[in-house]
Amino acid sequence: MKKHWWHKATIYQIYPKSFKDSNGDGIGDLKGITSKLDYLQKLGITAIWLSPVYQSPMDDNGYDISDYQAIADIFGDMSDMDELLAQANQRGIKIIMDLVVNHTSDEHAWFVEAREHPDSDARDYYIWRDQPNDLDSIFGGSAWQYDDKSGQYYLHFFSKKQPDLNWENAALRQKVYDMMNWWIDKGIDGFRMDVIDMIGKIPDQKIANNGPKLHDYLKEMHQATLAGKDLLTVGETWGATPEIAKKYSSPAEEELSMVFQFEHIGLQHKPNSPKWDYEKGLNVPALKDIFNKWQTELELGQGWNSLFWNNHDLPRVLSIWGDTGTYREKSAKALAIALHLMRGTPYIYQGEEIGMTNYPFKDLGELNDIESLNFAAESLENGRAISEIMDSIRMIGRDNARTPMQWDADANAGFSSSPQTWLPVNPNHTQINVEVALADPDSIFYTYQKLIKLRKENDWLVDADFELQETTDKVFAYKRVTADASYLVVINLSGEAQPFDLDIDYQETIITNTCEFEVFEKLQLQPWDAFCVKVG
Ligand code: GLC
Ligand code: CA
Repeated sequence: MKKHWWHKATIYQIYPKSFKDSNGDGIGDLKGITSKLDYLQKLGITAIWLSPVYQSPMDDNGYDISDYQAIADIFGDMSDMDELLAQANQRGIKIIMDLVVNHTSDEHAWFVEAREHPDSDARDYYIWRDQPNDLDSIFGGSAWQYDDKSGQYYLHFFSKKQPDLNWENAALRQKVYDMMNWWIDKGIDGFRMDVIDMIGKIPDQKIANNGPKLHDYLKEMHQATLAGKDLLTVGETWGATPEIAKKYSSPAEEELSMVFQFEHIGLQHKPNSPKWDYEKGLNVPALKDIFNKWQTELELGQGWNSLFWNNHDLPRVLSIWGDTGTYREKSAKALAIALHLMRGTPYIYQGEEIGMTNYPFKDLGELNDIESLNFAAESLENGRAISEIMDSIRMIGRDNARTPMQWDADANAGFSSSPQTWLPVNPNHTQINVEVALADPDSIFYTYQKLIKLRKENDWLVDADFELQETTDKVFAYKRVTADASYLVVINLSGEAQPFDLDIDYQETIITNTCEFEVFEKLQLQPWDAFCVKVG
């Protein structure tokens, strides 16, 4: 198998509005990110995945793009982007851009033209029908919006300010590829592709994900943009199975490097229920089955996994699956060790490396996220109690991940000089912040730093087979096995002591969040104990 830099990489996701504000308007920006590159270099990450910074009316915080080749005013301008790229590259950090081409903003020039001039070429860049069908928008309500001017409906799987692009149109596809090449020529190192599994949609047959032409489009895109370049591409694919993930990520298919699959994230809500019907507490046996399936079915050379607990759409993992109290630090390290020693490319979401948690939202007035607000409005209309609605949002809502990064204990957490931050700062920033983490050699930060370094320096993390070990329910244990060495990873994914009876022919400790001697002297794992040891 041909090795690529991203096989040994760890990626750090930045949500630009919330990372660091440089000009005191309460909103994070590009100069703010550049000012924190030394911090990211210290953490050791290989690349930043930058959530969208393009020009946008911010109906969905930049996932509604009105110009792919301009920077949103709130974030700075193209010279700030160039400066970020240059400064990052100087520190050996690559930049992965977010590519949102399932839809644009309704303020994109193409859509404006399509709407104003129904006989223009741009009309067919979008999807218009005389009559809507009963497809729903993922953000609530119908997926069709009536347009007065032309008397037709356009499709929007997300907000009505995010009209879906029509990938059947070859000229539109070429425009997308030209835009991608423009960014590649600028020196970026890859793309995270937003809801890419939806570009093959067939709305009349109510097919949204995994449409029949999806992989033809991706192959065409690959040839037109990625071929011959060593870029990282990761597709967001909510509906992927291992079989489907191979189609995207097998090198022979020449499509993408890897995809984000969400099967493990599915355990955050009740089966066959909306995400808001959350399941508090981790179903460890189910999680083990899912990881085992993905780790063994995406064989080396036939596909590649991504590994993540968090992103800008998900709750903070400590709040839903970890411990935000006594064992906050220990559970954060345990979850990190569990994830980062599997095969795949790990992703860290900003603040995860210091153990940030969900925000205690009190009322709807504190929220910004369109999905949460639409859910609240719809639920209120259906007579649901506000207390219940807020309870769901506090656990699952997307704003939990989006509150400002906690840099220090000062007012506004060192995120901004303005007290008017676009989302409130979590009150726990007085204890949970970068300054405190850096000063404590035992902090979560240094566990992440070590995991990133291990991945860079050890081929076995890429090559070794994954073998799930038989253990009691709450213990996740696996071996990574090569021809000449075996590594055993053991994590107690619970806040209670667990019996443990695996035979360990101990050779060397690779990483642990507990005192290593303790582990072997007792036949019990303490709450959230985690370690990796080289075994005979
Ligand atoms: C993806 C993004 C999410 C966005 C949606 C529409 O799921 O991660 O934040 O709202 O696509 O672009
Ligand atoms: Ca700012």
